[in-house]
Amino acid sequence: MPTEEGAMLMHVKKRIPFVAFRTRVRDETVEGPNPYRWEVKTTDDYFSGKRVVLFSLPGAFTPTCSTQQLPDFEKLYDEFRKAGIESVYCLSVNDAFAMNAWGKALGVEKVKLIPDGSGEFTRKMGMLVAKDNLGFGMRSWRYAAVVNDGVVEQWFEEDGFSDNCESDPYAVSSPQNILETLRTRNTASASSGPRQDFDTSV
Ligand code: BEZ
Repeated sequence: MPTEEGAMLMHVKKRIPFVAFRTRVRDETVEGPNPYRWEVKTTDDYFSGKRVVLFSLPGAFTPTCSTQQLPDFEKLYDEFRKAGIESVYCLSVNDAFAMNAWGKALGVEKVKLIPDGSGEFTRKMGMLVAKDNLGFGMRSWRYAAVVNDGVVEQWFEEDGFSDNCESDPYAVSSPQNILETLRTRNTASASSGPRQDFDTSV
């Protein structure tokens, strides 16, 4: 199991994988009581040419994600903007219907929700874990990253990456910790040296 520093080194400077996400967007031209349509958005749409924060969590509507992580990112969104972040993305291995319903239930307006329903992005990031002990199937380990034009600049992975983990660590991927790091860390080292790619063959 990599240490926090080991996990950081494994991911920093890597380009995130190209994935297409199936989102549902509101469209008033759609007739009927539920005016939404499918829209495919890719990692290029979300990440190209921008410095963003991505955080990924085990599931929509789950307790820590719903009472702390997502609401706190929403509350601190303007602080992220002041720290040079253009967008904040919340990703989960949930379909677009579940993600939209979760965002609506929490009144989320600033953080953008990304539905990785098939788990393809999470798998290619090497962050897919089994949560069969909770009846969840395959989900995302909890992590966050500062991603600059599609390349990981800073990495925040919770300890204990494992299948069927009995606990739900939540510390380093909190918005408070990421903001603190953004305000203090010298990022010069992250922008030098060769870039690598995630191993997407898994
Ligand atoms: C939580 O966010 O509290 C949580 C996430 C996954 C499984 C159980 C709880």
